[in-house]
Amino acid sequence: MEIILLGYMGSGKSTIARQLSQKLNLEMIDLDDYIATKEQNTISSIFKNKGEIYFRKLEIKALNEILTTKKNYVLALGGGTPCYANNMEAISTHGISIYLKGSIQTLRDRLILEKEHRPLIKDLEDHQLIEFIAKHLFERNPFYEKATHTIKIDEKDSQAIIDEITSNML
Ligand code: S3P
Repeated sequence: MEIILLGYMGSGKSTIARQLSQKLNLEMIDLDDYIATKEQNTISSIFKNKGEIYFRKLEIKALNEILTTKKNYVLALGGGTPCYANNMEAISTHGISIYLKGSIQTLRDRLILEKEHRPLIKDLEDHQLIEFIAKHLFERNPFYEKATHTIKIDEKDSQAIIDEITSNML
């Protein structure tokens, strides 16, 4: 079984992927970690030294490598992965995709605590976050909404989200 989690930064993709993979006895793959290991570099440093376009090319390549060579995994994408090249089509043909959908306020409350290692938001002032997330989500939602399933994450803990996924979506 191939399960692919997508959603904005701070929606809990990696946490849910880890716990879900344990529950289902599947491999857990985090796309950012996969890229960082291959490049022997951090995502922040790739963004800083090579730029976002370079990162997106690595991301497209890594995604397609995983989708075409691996089986039986829970894959946590990066927040932007579904929105570039034909990534969303590739995702849809290779697995069950699940959009972890958070409200702007929930995402803001989570991201304000952990901006530092996220290159796209680390230089924003706290008061700029809401507007940034609102605009960014507006652009990205059409891609996210193509997922096989959508699950609302506001006010739910990871156990509740995993229960909802395993009982309704697999
Ligand atoms: C990005 C999200 C990040 C990472 C990179 C770009 C994005 O992943 O891939 O910083 O474009 O939203 P997370 O969603 O895991 O933070």
